[in-house]
Amino acid sequence: MVKQVIQESLDRMIHHDLSIVIEKPKNPDFGDYAIPCFSWAKTFKRSPKEIAEQLALSIHHPLFLKVDAVGPYINIFLDKKQISQELLNQIVLKAASFGSNNDGENQNVPIDLSAPNIAKPFSMGHLRSTVIGHSIANLTAKNGYRPIRINHLGDWGTQFGKLIVAYLKWGDEEKVIQQPIVELLRLYIKFHDEANKHSELNDEGRLYFKKLEEGDPQTLKLWSWFREESLKEFFRIYQLLDISFDYLHGESFYNDKMDEVIELLTAEGLIEESNGALVVQLDENDLPPCLIQKSDGATIYATRDLATAIYRKRNFDFARSLYVVGSEQTLHFQQVKLVLQKAGFDWAKDIIHIPFGMMLQNGKKMSTRAGRVILLEEVLNEAIELAYQIIDQKNPTLENKHEIAKQVGIGAVIFQDLKNFRTNDVDFSFEHMLNFDGETGPYLQYTHARCHSLLRKSGDFVPQIGYSLDEDEAWSTIFLLSQFGEVVKQSWTDYDPSKIARYALDLARSFNSYYAKVRILDSENKNARLHLVFSVATIIKECLRILGIKAPQSM
Ligand code: ARG
Repeated sequence: MVKQVIQESLDRMIHHDLSIVIEKPKNPDFGDYAIPCFSWAKTFKRSPKEIAEQLALSIHHPLFLKVDAVGPYINIFLDKKQISQELLNQIVLKAASFGSNNDGENQNVPIDLSAPNIAKPFSMGHLRSTVIGHSIANLTAKNGYRPIRINHLGDWGTQFGKLIVAYLKWGDEEKVIQQPIVELLRLYIKFHDEANKHSELNDEGRLYFKKLEEGDPQTLKLWSWFREESLKEFFRIYQLLDISFDYLHGESFYNDKMDEVIELLTAEGLIEESNGALVVQLDENDLPPCLIQKSDGATIYATRDLATAIYRKRNFDFARSLYVVGSEQTLHFQQVKLVLQKAGFDWAKDIIHIPFGMMLQNGKKMSTRAGRVILLEEVLNEAIELAYQIIDQKNPTLENKHEIAKQVGIGAVIFQDLKNFRTNDVDFSFEHMLNFDGETGPYLQYTHARCHSLLRKSGDFVPQIGYSLDEDEAWSTIFLLSQFGEVVKQSWTDYDPSKIARYALDLARSFNSYYAKVRILDSENKNARLHLVFSVATIIKECLRILGIKAPQSM
């Protein structure tokens, strides 16, 4: 805002692209902002001091209390009373919708997220896709777009032919019902061990996938049973995270849409045969060829993603189509996008892969522990259990301890994931994520609950408009609150929930240091200060909501 006002005043004097430096003076006598005028001397052919004097006279804004020229500097004093009043009013009036905008004009944005592979454990990578994707969906909505959350389940492909063969040979129905993921994983591993010795098993696997693609009822029945049992497990995890989807369109959903893709690519003259397989060459773009159909006629992951992209464009007429998938699939998405471009789809430019790094524990990949599968559900439950122990110790008489421990434990896991830029690897540590004073979800939840405890203790707080707070101690918190809308825009533009996470930490820290300096309940300024408390609670809660984390009112 300051920059824009200065820019306009400069423009009135001379039309020229001048760079503006804004400094924050340490000494409050020199205002809230200081603008050095040295660099403009050449353009204006005058001394910096003269420029400062002339500009100071021409800069006006209702939120500037005064504008002084001191030597070669312009000093700007903000009207903090006015600014704080406007801000507190807006938060009271808009509540959780404060900071939202309509940039998206309600256009559709499908978001491909989570996408675990059935019959396999729900991995840490899929957890990352789920929480990052969910948060980006919330940001999408907050910026006025319509997010469409699609879980592109890995439920199709040759591996299911192999799994069916393994089940028919060595499977145990009871075990599939009791512990589907463990049993199906055992069968999958056994298949690969056996196929190393007897390679003809692979042919059998391919044959069974062929049967699946052709809709053989017996094979389909087994496949859909495996799918259902896997989904039951996955949905327990989604329930813990309180995350839902608009569509559960896995790869199998596109089985009947594959011929069209091949016909289309053939008609465009893009398909080439290579050792019996069909490929699209991408060597002009320095990429390896995109495999479309294997020599046995089976389609693959990439073909299904081509069909998926076309389906989403037709059905949702998207403004952009987002894919929250690990960095290791970067090449895959480059290929898919290029093939679509070559096929003449101008909307291919709106396909956006949003990559992320790995979840590590003690610097190592976290998916398996010697001989044992880590089931994600157990990890989440452990976080909840540890949160319970901490809460029980800090606040033994708290009501609903179990529910709150769930919100805190899950919140801790999610925040630990989202607080760093997504392409960084995340180090998973129960100890760090549950530290109530650290850069953690529980710290934010605790600050939020603390605000509510103040509001409750005040006895009669009702949010109203008309309050202002121009005390210096409150300024950094007020300033941060005023930045929220910008942060919401920036995090969406960069598909970066960590900007919201970092912002919430700054806001909480700033408020906690304000609270350490001033009395709130027994002060003359009680009502205005309580409005600040209310505003901080509202915005921290909204940040947590965007991240997919609950904000209990006491803990
Ligand atoms: N199931 C895949 C995997 O686990 C992720 C799918 C991502 N989405 C997509 N449209 N390809 O690797």
